[in-house]
Amino acid sequence: MSRRPAVITGVGSYVPERVLTNADLEQIVDTTDEWIVSHTGIRERRIAADDEATSDLGLAASRRALEDAGLEPGDIGLILCATVTPDHFFPVTSNIIQDKLGADRAAAFDLLSGCCGFVYGLWTARQFIATGELEHVLVLSAEKLTSITDWTDRATCVLFGDGAGAAVVSAGEGDPGATGLLAFVMESYGEHGRLLRVPAGGSRRPVDEEALAARDNCLRMEGPELFKLAVRGIPEVAAKTIARAGLTQRDIDWVIMHQANLRIIEAAAKRLNVPEERLVINVDKYGNTSAASMAIALDEVYREGRLEPGHNILLVGFGAGFSLGGAVVRWGP
Ligand code: ACO
Repeated sequence: MSRRPAVITGVGSYVPERVLTNADLEQIVDTTDEWIVSHTGIRERRIAADDEATSDLGLAASRRALEDAGLEPGDIGLILCATVTPDHFFPVTSNIIQDKLGADRAAAFDLLSGCCGFVYGLWTARQFIATGELEHVLVLSAEKLTSITDWTDRATCVLFGDGAGAAVVSAGEGDPGATGLLAFVMESYGEHGRLLRVPAGGSRRPVDEEALAARDNCLRMEGPELFKLAVRGIPEVAAKTIARAGLTQRDIDWVIMHQANLRIIEAAAKRLNVPEERLVINVDKYGNTSAASMAIALDEVYREGRLEPGHNILLVGFGAGFSLGGAVVRWGP
């Protein structure tokens, strides 16, 4: 079995045009801009159009990532779409994107892992590249969270938004320990699953009239408990991932955390001792886009020209499961 480096060769993202501000939400539920900003850091989020599904968001991000990589759809061997809001249970969203892209040589499957989905996708892609099985894998994460939002629940509806991000992971050259996707730490704490769930809509409890009346086909969350788990868990998994890459905290140039809440990001950064200028933050513009959040942030910091070859990027997320995941990526060449 060969062992080759897996390198990110292209990134892209897409967010829908429609902006929903905190002032707009004040018209929908009993909330205020002051509460939302002080508790979450979110000022606005993007909302997909009624006729825009998760695959449409993912397709736009994927096209941008392919263009950035200088590849044609036919070059891709596998499409991995991380989402908790697929177009349907099946056909799965990655098959739909494969068709619309015209990626006629690609296999495709979805990855359902909440907000850690993008890191899970990169981790999975690395295996196929490292073994020599595939040359190029398209990893995308796309969410239309507003399709599972309860617009009567002020505790959750102010938090989420829609969007998509994508990365092309390709076979690189050189030392796999020093190039591209350097290290991962992925952890599952299923005992905390109840903290973030969609109660109805699966085989445990199909959607019926009672579920619809209770809006149990929408996302439910125990916010304060999740907050505590995230603030403790993110620095721990971040430290483990940095150590696994053979680096120290001082070697990390950019920290991209799952954009759930500014207070969580700042508290975790303090525990990790990361200076503010190394944190990538866009939760104010997009809210929590679940699996898409770290991919969108990576694309933004790249397009702003702030990433340089050799920079070490820490991606670290938490989310439904409860899952924690970290990755260290060396950018370039
Ligand atoms: N506007 C005004 N008041 C509100 C709102 C709102 N939108 N939402 C809740 N409140 C009220 C509550 O009713 C409560 O009032 P009470 O004291 O009279 O009962 C008060 O504010 C405090 O509520 P808490 O839930 O304790 O507020 P907290 O300070 O914990 O902040 C928050 C809530 C922002 C959700 C926080 O707990 C959090 O960020 N948790 C983590 C959530 C998270 O990251 N989720 C996603 C993780 S996984 C994924 O990304 C899919």
